[in-house]
Amino acid sequence: MESHTQLGLMPAMGWNSWNTFTWDINEQLIRDVADLFVSEGYKDAGYEYIVIDDCWSLKERDSNGNLVADPAKFPSGMKALADYIHGKGLKFGMYSCVGTHTCAGYPGSFEHEFQDAQQFAEWGVDYLKYDYCFKPRNMSGELLYKRMSLALKNSGRDILFSACNWGEDNVYQWIRESGAHMYRSTGDIRDFWDSVKSLAISQLDKGCYTGSFCHNDMDMLIVGMYGGSNNDYIGSKIGGCSDTEYKTHFSLWSMMGSPLMIGCDIRSANQPTKDILMNPDLIAINQDIEARGAYRIKPEPQWFHTDDVFMLVKVLTDGDVAIGFFNLSDDQREISLQFWDIGLPYASGYSLSLYDCWAHQELGVFKERFSPVVPAHDCLVVRAKLVK
Ligand code: GLA
Repeated sequence: MESHTQLGLMPAMGWNSWNTFTWDINEQLIRDVADLFVSEGYKDAGYEYIVIDDCWSLKERDSNGNLVADPAKFPSGMKALADYIHGKGLKFGMYSCVGTHTCAGYPGSFEHEFQDAQQFAEWGVDYLKYDYCFKPRNMSGELLYKRMSLALKNSGRDILFSACNWGEDNVYQWIRESGAHMYRSTGDIRDFWDSVKSLAISQLDKGCYTGSFCHNDMDMLIVGMYGGSNNDYIGSKIGGCSDTEYKTHFSLWSMMGSPLMIGCDIRSANQPTKDILMNPDLIAINQDIEARGAYRIKPEPQWFHTDDVFMLVKVLTDGDVAIGFFNLSDDQREISLQFWDIGLPYASGYSLSLYDCWAHQELGVFKERFSPVVPAHDCLVVRAKLVK
C-alpha cells in the first residue's frame, strides 16, 4: 500500500472514460486502456489512474442497499477489474455523486457515504470522483464532501478523493479543509477551442488556490479527441481542435497544475496526440514536487492588453522557472517578457538560459528580456535556468 503521506502530493495523471465514451463503457474497454497504458508508454510517462466515470452501475441498489455494477457492462465484476489494473502496476478509479443520483441518473451516495466507501475499498478502488448533481436543496455541499472524505479516509484503503462540484459555492474556500485531494474548479470541458480558452481564462490569477494534496482540477483533457465523443454536447457535433490547439491546452493544464486526465480514445491515438500527452518536459513541470501554482504576467504595452494573451510563470523546486507564452487570440502576437517581472533585475548579473519544452532544444542565453512571436492559438513553453 502506498504511504498515506504521498496520496495527492502531485496532480493526478490518468485516463477517464467520460469525454469519449460517456454511457458506452465496459470491462473490455477498461482492460484495453490498461494494456495500452503499459505498451504505448503512458505508464512510463507518469499516467497511473484508470477511472470509470458515470453509468457503471445498475439503476437500483441491491436489497442490502449496496451499489451493483451493471453485469452487462462489467460481467466479471469490479474486484476482478481492479485486480487486472493493479496487475499492470496501475491504479483504479470509480465515480459517484453527493446527491441522490449521479448526473446521468444512476444511484448517488447521499446517505450511503460510509457504506459506499466501504464497498469501493473492498473492490480495490484507489480513486473516487465525486460529482454534484441531485444534491438535496437543503443540504450543504461542503458538508457532503466532508462526509465522503471522512468515509474514504476511514475505509481501510488509500483512496484519492477527486471532488467535482464545477467550481460552485466558492469551493476553493473550503475544499482543502474537507480532505479532498483535487477539486473541479470549472464547468465541463467540451472539445472545441472556445471551451479550452474560456476554462483557462477563468482560472487565471487563481494559482494561490492550488497546491500539494489539493489540486485545482480544470477538467479532463480533450487532447486527441478530434470531436470523437458519443455525446453531442462534448464533441461529436462541434468538430474538435487542431493539434496546435491541443498542444496549447495541454501546456495550460500542465503549467496551471491541473491533474492530467486523458479523455480521448487511446486505442486509436495518433502520433501528434501521443507526442502531446507524453511530452516529458511539460509533464515534469506539471509534476514538480513543490506543486506551486502559476502566476500571470500581462504583456506590455498595457494599452494593448487583452485577457487572451499572457505569460504564465511557475517557480520550480530546483530554482528553474517554467514560463509559458500563451497566445489564445486569433492573430499572431509578439509577447515580451521583461525578466524584471519574474524577479530578475539586471543588477543581479544573471541571464536566463532558455530551453524550449516543445521543440526539446536550447534557445540560447538572454539578458533582460525575451520576446518570442507566437502564432494564433499557439504557445511557447520554456524552462529557464539562471546563469551568470
Ligand atoms: C458531470 C461532470 C462530468 C461527468 C458527468 C457524468 O457533468 O462534471 O465530468 O462526470 O457529470 O455524468
